[in-house]
Amino acid sequence: MTIKNICCLGAGYVGGPTCSVIALKCPEIKVTVADLSKERIAQWNSDKLPIYEPGLDEVVKTCRGRNLFFSNDISGSILEADLIFISVNTPTKITGNGKGRAADLKYVESAARLIADVAQSNKIVVEKSTVPVRAAESIANILIANQKPGVTYQILSNPEFLAEGTAVTDLLSADRVLIGGEDTKEGRAAVEELCSIYEHWIPRTKIVTMNTWSSELSKLAANAMLAQRISSINSLSAVCEATGADVSEVARAVGLDSRIGSKFLQSSVGFGGSCFQKDILNLVYICECLNLPEVAAYWQQVIDMNEYQKHRFTTKIVESCFNTLSGKKICILGFAFKKNTGDTRESPAIHVAKTLLDEGASIKIYDPKVDKEQIDEDLTNPYVCENPEDFRKRIAIYTDPYAASNGCHAIVVCTEWDEFIHLDYKKIYGNMMKPAYIFDGRKILDHQALINMGYHVQTIGKKL
Ligand code: UDX
Ligand code: ADP
Repeated sequence: MTIKNICCLGAGYVGGPTCSVIALKCPEIKVTVADLSKERIAQWNSDKLPIYEPGLDEVVKTCRGRNLFFSNDISGSILEADLIFISVNTPTKITGNGKGRAADLKYVESAARLIADVAQSNKIVVEKSTVPVRAAESIANILIANQKPGVTYQILSNPEFLAEGTAVTDLLSADRVLIGGEDTKEGRAAVEELCSIYEHWIPRTKIVTMNTWSSELSKLAANAMLAQRISSINSLSAVCEATGADVSEVARAVGLDSRIGSKFLQSSVGFGGSCFQKDILNLVYICECLNLPEVAAYWQQVIDMNEYQKHRFTTKIVESCFNTLSGKKICILGFAFKKNTGDTRESPAIHVAKTLLDEGASIKIYDPKVDKEQIDEDLTNPYVCENPEDFRKRIAIYTDPYAASNGCHAIVVCTEWDEFIHLDYKKIYGNMMKPAYIFDGRKILDHQALINMGYHVQTIGKKL
């Protein structure tokens, strides 16, 4: 089989950018990204894409209507595809067995069932969502149990390593592409087909093939180890604050050791995003199920340290403001979980905002890319607050950082957007209540300059 037609189920942060780049690099292949959501597909077909990702608009503009299509016709897309990516959402389960930790595979399962219902010809089905180890086996079980005569399936694991905010460059120049498949003649042939797609732009030496379970576990392992580095440096930031060491200096010194390297050692208010917490919780759950409690406890600690870091930061804010925030106005700069994305999933800003609201503050939020509706949903859903109307009265969302900080007692930087570095903090100081505080949760500001202007400044991992 030569792949001429690809379909991707799920037009989210993974499916959208991945398939746009495949379409860009494989002009002879028709790529259709199909989603249940009419609104999402309409946005992908409009000038305002549903996700903000540097460089993505240009890629979509080049390919859309040429060999890249966004559609709600899921069955039609499956029917004509030779290869199907499953990149639907895999949230953490909120009820039942494994609640709060295990991945909820209901969307993956329903995608597999739909493929089995619709397919009339052989398909290569590629698992791209982050799923627990042996999920490919579950997909295979569903497909095989519902197999029609003459239709065969090959299931591959091809985990995604793109980071939001740099998705397009990560896809264009990936460190590696991982493909897991069955060690049979047919399995190896399917792996080769998928390799041939990536070989359009990725050197063969960077395309690594292995067994399906290794591929699935490698994704969880990579995310767990990246998150572990952040929790490690964050744990040391507490030691720095207690001793007078500076965590940035420590990170630099440690990172210069070529065996360690400098990436993912930026101490912060805590990590967020749709992957790190979810994947580690998944790993912990899998270890418990495999009767490996010591391994489970080891990885759980990475999450616990992240919670501790977020808590430490908000405690610092409350204590600095004379232990009461009742009636005070606090400006939050940045709501996304990192810069260059509008995504707020597991953003530490949610924890910060909730704590400040629980303490009685009014909060004024500015983020360059997060929609007002998203912030409202994040802060008033039942998992975050009991009384949404009370919270709503004390939340205001701004499209300008100067208006957001006007009249505030404190500014809290939650996301490292570049534009926050260059704001006119003298002007801002003039319009704030005194004493004026800045809590820099991302270590991006010039703290000495702010102190000279009159601010009380606190940050992570350094006594000021
Ligand atoms: C991550 C992985 O990097 C990616 O390979 C995987 O496919 C999906 O999960 P993402 O969550 O998009 O990507 O962003 P990432 O850049 O990894 O940042 C995650 C969180 O860690 C952010 O909240 C970020 O601010 C924080 N972080 C990152 C730090 O606090 N310090 C650092 O040094 C790096
Ligand atoms: P991710 O960050 O993993 O890409 P998202 O939540 O951004 O996750 O995107 C997942 C997308 O998958 C959503 O747009 C959702 O509507 C879509 N989806 C869920 N189930 C199906 C399905 N069976 N077929 C097609 N799309 C689906």
